[in-house]
This record gives sequence, structure tokens and C-alpha cells, in this order.
Amino acid sequence: MSTATATAHPNIALVKYWGKRDERLILPHQSSLSVTLGPLSVTTQVAFEAASGPDLVRINGRSVEGRERTRVVELVGLVRAAVRARLRRRLGRATVVSSGDFPASAGLASSAAAFAALAVAARAAAGFPRHPREESILARQGSGSASRSIQGGFVRWNRGRRADGRDSFAEQVFDQGHWPELRLLVGLVSREEKEVNSRDGMRSTVETSPYYPAWARDAEAEVKVLVRHLARRDLEAVGALAERNAWRMHATALGAEPPLCYLKPQTLAVIEACRVARSRGVGVWFTLDAGPNPVLLTLARDEARAAALISRLGAASVVHCVPGGDAQVR
Ligand code: PMV
Repeated sequence: MSTATATAHPNIALVKYWGKRDERLILPHQSSLSVTLGPLSVTTQVAFEAASGPDLVRINGRSVEGRERTRVVELVGLVRAAVRARLRRRLGRATVVSSGDFPASAGLASSAAAFAALAVAARAAAGFPRHPREESILARQGSGSASRSIQGGFVRWNRGRRADGRDSFAEQVFDQGHWPELRLLVGLVSREEKEVNSRDGMRSTVETSPYYPAWARDAEAEVKVLVRHLARRDLEAVGALAERNAWRMHATALGAEPPLCYLKPQTLAVIEACRVARSRGVGVWFTLDAGPNPVLLTLARDEARAAALISRLGAASVVHCVPGGDAQVR
């Protein structure tokens, strides 16, 4: 039996990925850039036996079946195939046990941290040395955003151009210690399961939104500008760019047929409150993934006032995050 355990953090994109050019390999139409979110994490243990048999997958204390299990089993299958091809060894059935230290009700998708931890643990259990690029390429095939959770700090996922996806991986732009004052506050304004998941939402947007080409085209330049703003730790510039990018992603999705609206009335209330707070001298901006729960960008000195603002507007909980570190083998 060979076993390894790994831990990875989720991430929040400031320039977002929305749309695949290859559904199977999960290759994006555009590059994206995110902040890794500490201290939240997912820990995953992978154990390979010599004997073959069906893989077992347990997530947060329960055995999973169906689509959830298939995505994990497929990723483990990629590692098995790589071991056969490169190390000339055969791995038998795998047991995967994963748990997150943040509830689904935190309003953050755990798939980025989960597939990053799985990719790192599965490769380590199979006997491969650490290799962030290979880990990112593997994690990407579980969930696109997971490619950006292998490394800490500020991470850019380069879209790549090749059909085989070998040039589509994420790289660290600035490390975890680059901007210690930065705070990311996740506000839970709705617990409802979203009606359209990211995978289906992206596909529909790419196929039916007339705004999609403009969205994808602008991303490369946005990533470059964001890197310059991050280099200067200029929250006003970073925040304005993140807000504009989030609005444009949602505008593109709203242009799909049927329209995809992930916003709830309380989401708009928080967005409006950020604008009002800024006019009163609180440095707070928002970003928004494909869901109703905003993530606020602020600095340590304004953290308490920014958190009070989302709580007052009805957020059931506020999760306080700072830039997180690399995925680790434990
Ligand atoms: O990797 P997925 O399938 O969870 O898609 C992530 C899409 C967004 O969260 C909306 C944007 C992003 O870049 O993380």
C-alpha cells in the first residue's frame, strides 16, 4: 500500500475564467488570476493498493457515488495511467478520503481546493516527486480553478494554445507574503443551491452569449494590468479591476439563452453598500463568482468595518481570509 496526504486552499479569481475551449481536458478560452485563500483548506488522503478493484471515495465523512465519485475516479485514473507509462508500475485500487475545514455554507466552492489536494496527494502516493506544473495540469482536469490552488499567494493560469493542454497551467506571480495587509471577506447571503453549475453555465455562455468573444478577448490584457496593480499593492486599482471583471463575467452570462442570473437581491445590496462605504472612506471592493455570495477585498485597517457592512445587510456568516500558501504534502 502506498499512501500520501495533501492539503490545499481554495482561491478567488480577480480576473475570472469563464468558458472552455476543450470540455474534456478543461482548457479555457482565457487566462485568469486568483488569490489563494488561507486559512481555509481541504485535506485529502490517497492510498493505492496492489490489488485491483473499484476505487472508494469518501468526502466529508460519507461515501460518494455518481458524478461526484466519477470526477475523482477519473483524476486518479490519470495518475494510474501516468505511472504505467512513465514508471512502468501498476497501481491497484485507490481509497480517497477528503474533508474540508470550511462548510459548504461558507459560500465558497470547495472544488478548487479539493481537486488541488487530490492531485498533489495522488501523485505523491504514486511515487512522483513534487512538481507544481504537473500538479497544476492534473488538478485542472478535475476542476479548472483547481489549477490555481497548487501554489499560494497570487496565481495566474495561462490559457495555453496547445490542443493537448501541456501549456495550460497556473504559475505563482507573487508569493503569500507579498501583501500581508490584504483581506478577503466571503459573505454568505444565500444558501440556495445554484440552479446552473459552473460547467453547464460556461458551456451555455460560450455557445449562446453574443458577448462571449469580447469577454474572452479582453482577459489577456486584464491579467497583465492586474499584475502591475498587484505589484504596487494598489487596492483601489485592484478592486476597481476586480469589480469590472466580475460585472463583465455576469453580463456575459446574462447574455446567454436562457439568461444566467446568479445574483440575488442581497448580492446587489452588498455591492451597493461597497460603493457607499467607499464614498465614506472605507476601502472595500467586491468580486463575485458564479453564485450570489460576494467576496470583499479590503485591507486589515478596514476589515472590521467591511465585515460589519455585509453582516448588517443580512449575510448569515462572514469568513475572514488572508492570502494563503502552497498546497502541501503532509
Ligand atoms: O473551475 P470551476 O468549474 O469551479 O469554475 C470556476 C469559475 C469561476 O469560479 C466563476 C471563476 C474562476 O476563475 O474561479
